[in-house]
Amino acid sequence: MSQGSKGSSKLMIIIWVLAMFFIGYKALNSSSAESSNSETMIDSALLERIKPIGEVRIDSSMAATSSESSEKAERSGEEIYKANCQGCHSSGVMGAPKYASLEDWAARIDLGLEKLTLSAIAGKGGMPARGTCMDCSDNEIKLTVQYLLDSLK
Ligand code: HEC
Repeated sequence: MSQGSKGSSKLMIIIWVLAMFFIGYKALNSSSAESSNSETMIDSALLERIKPIGEVRIDSSMAATSSESSEKAERSGEEIYKANCQGCHSSGVMGAPKYASLEDWAARIDLGLEKLTLSAIAGKGGMPARGTCMDCSDNEIKLTVQYLLDSLK
C-alpha cells in the first residue's frame, strides 16, 4: 500500500516536473518570439530612419549633387598640367608641343580634343602614356588636353 502511494507520488513529481518543463519551455519560446518580434520592429524602425538617406542618394536631384562633388574631387586640367605635363610642355623638350604655342600645336590642332586625348592617354613618340600621370582618369587627361588647347586661344 505504502509502496503504491510512493509510486504514485513519484509519478506526480514526474508529471509536475514535465509540466514545469512544458510551461517553462512555452514561456521561453514566447518570450524569445516576442523579443525577435521587437527586434524586427527595431529593424524596420532603423530601416525607416536609414531609408530616406538611401532614397535621397538615388533621388535625381541628389545624384546631381553627388556627381558634382565627385567632379570636385577630380583635379582640374590646370592642376594636372602643372603637376605632370609642364616639365615637357612648357620647355618643348623632345619636341613636345609647347603650352600656349599655336605654332607648335598648329599641326595637331586639327586632330581635335578627342584624338589628342586618346594619344595623350596611349602615349606618342616622346610623349609618355598619360603624360606620366598614371592615376589620372581618362577624363582628367581630357581636361588637361583641353587646358593645353585653351592656352592657344
Ligand atoms: C616626358 C615629357 C612629356 C610629358 C611629361 C608630357 N608630354 Fe605630352 N608630349 C610630349 C612629347 C615629346 C610630345 C610630342 C609627341 C610626338 O608627336 O611625337 C607630346 C605630345 C602631346 C600631345 C599631342 C599628341 C598628338 O596626338 O599629337 C598632347 C595632347 C599631350 N602631349 C598632352 C600631354 C598631357 C596632357 C600631359 C600631362 C598629363 C603630357 N602631355 C605630359 C612629351 C611629354
